[in-house]
Amino acid sequence: AETHYHQFVVQPTPVTRLCRTRNRITVNGQFPGPTLAVRNGDTLVIRVINSAQYNVTMHWHGIRQLQNPWADGPEYVTQCPIQPGGTYTYRFTIIDQEGTLWWHAHSRWLRATVYGALIIYPKLGTPYPFHMPKREVPILLGEWWNRNPMDVLRQSQFTGAAPNVSDAYTINGQPGDLYRCSNKETVRIPVDSGETILLRLINSALNQELFFAIANHKMTVVAADALYTKPFTTQVIMIGPGQTTDILLTADQKPARYYMAARAYETAQNAAFDNTTTTAILEYKSACKKGLQPSRPILSQLPAFNDTATATAFTAKFRSPSKVDVPTQIDHNLFFTVGFGLNNCTRPNSPRCQGPNGTRFAASMNNVSFVFPRRTSLMQAYYQGVPGVFTTDFPPVPPLQFDYTGNVPRGLWQPSTGTKLYKLKYGSSVQIVLQDTSIVTTEDHPMHLHGYHFYVVGSGFGNFNPQTDPAKFNLIDPPQRNTIGTPPGGWVAIRFIADNPGIWLMHCHLDAHIVLGLAMAFLVENGVGASQSVIPPPADLPRC
Ligand code: C2O
Repeated sequence: AETHYHQFVVQPTPVTRLCRTRNRITVNGQFPGPTLAVRNGDTLVIRVINSAQYNVTMHWHGIRQLQNPWADGPEYVTQCPIQPGGTYTYRFTIIDQEGTLWWHAHSRWLRATVYGALIIYPKLGTPYPFHMPKREVPILLGEWWNRNPMDVLRQSQFTGAAPNVSDAYTINGQPGDLYRCSNKETVRIPVDSGETILLRLINSALNQELFFAIANHKMTVVAADALYTKPFTTQVIMIGPGQTTDILLTADQKPARYYMAARAYETAQNAAFDNTTTTAILEYKSACKKGLQPSRPILSQLPAFNDTATATAFTAKFRSPSKVDVPTQIDHNLFFTVGFGLNNCTRPNSPRCQGPNGTRFAASMNNVSFVFPRRTSLMQAYYQGVPGVFTTDFPPVPPLQFDYTGNVPRGLWQPSTGTKLYKLKYGSSVQIVLQDTSIVTTEDHPMHLHGYHFYVVGSGFGNFNPQTDPAKFNLIDPPQRNTIGTPPGGWVAIRFIADNPGIWLMHCHLDAHIVLGLAMAFLVENGVGASQSVIPPPADLPRC
């Protein structure tokens, strides 16, 4: 196994998109940031130097960080942020993981431009479960704002209204030629006729689930979230922020230029969203004769923005490659609501209450809107025994009984606020049913759990029925993920064994929802002995 040393300088960088040049925060001046490529078993040592004007932390999305929450990165959860001028070195070893993951800033909205791919190859001599092509291309989907995303966030936090939507989606940082001033920079992927390539698709968009398709081409999905799946073919992919999907693509169509395109999958009713389309061009080399005017690329067919049937059918195709070891005895049978509420304002006309009818948006799980601490991080407080930073009374069931299919009178559910954790004994088995509250709107929330991947054993629409739904769970070959959508107006059930001690955040990966409280954290206690305990923190762990 090798050790890879990297330096990440977080810095303002002039970036030109959609006809304007603006400073954006990048890593090493690159947008998207550098690709990290390692093998299973390797160690990464990444020195992050903060030369920006904002606090920052870095998260290695999907890396399990066994016994090592200190390298996980969510600010105020596992570490205090790296302040301007500060540094922190993330050090971690890849243990039994391979495939496509990514890294991103985990501070406010910095990840709008601070992200990159993290590719883990199998150990030398270990085969892939599919025929691995010679060529691979990371495809990072993103979102671009003409305004500084940090200012967009600040404004919405001040007014209590929904934040402004993005001005473009991007593929590897470029909007593509359907937008103004993007023609020359459109990403092109040349292929030979008959060639197969591996696309490592990553949704790094801040706030949007996306559909992705390639004109006239079928795709074969072979992995998601760095976990192999039983291969299946599809014409369209739905991918939520945080998720990755590995795709085999064969250039088996007539030589021409074809668009690959992505645009919104949006389930919230009446919500504003960016309805533009980003494109890259799949270019058959034999179709690009010298001196000839290139023909217009063939357009991809993408589903309508609210096509939940297509999104659901796609997600339902995932299976583990073979029978897996799903926990069947459940120690913690949890039911968590996920969704939006509206907080009443005492002065509804004030500039801070620009939500619907003079309210402020609030998001919660089990009616608790998560408040991130500021004095220290949860993990530091826990490790050092600092009292008063969090409590462990996160309610395992929502405090009110009601119908989650909508038609709930506004004002029935006003989330309370708190920094509440749910405690798990080392090695205990956990089932969580995540249920969309459907209060303000029904909405698909891509839910991410740090420090773990989990089995997705079932999902459905309407209210979860504890009498009848568990009988339909797939306990044979369910897929494993680190991020899964809670269907709009529905539920999803996941299972895992709490075998990674530490404090691990679970949250909606739409960043607009995290800052409004759609998060909670698990406190997984140490087991017996050093091999089941959190390692000591590194000496340079930042203080708040
Ligand atoms: Cu990809 Cu908490 O993050």
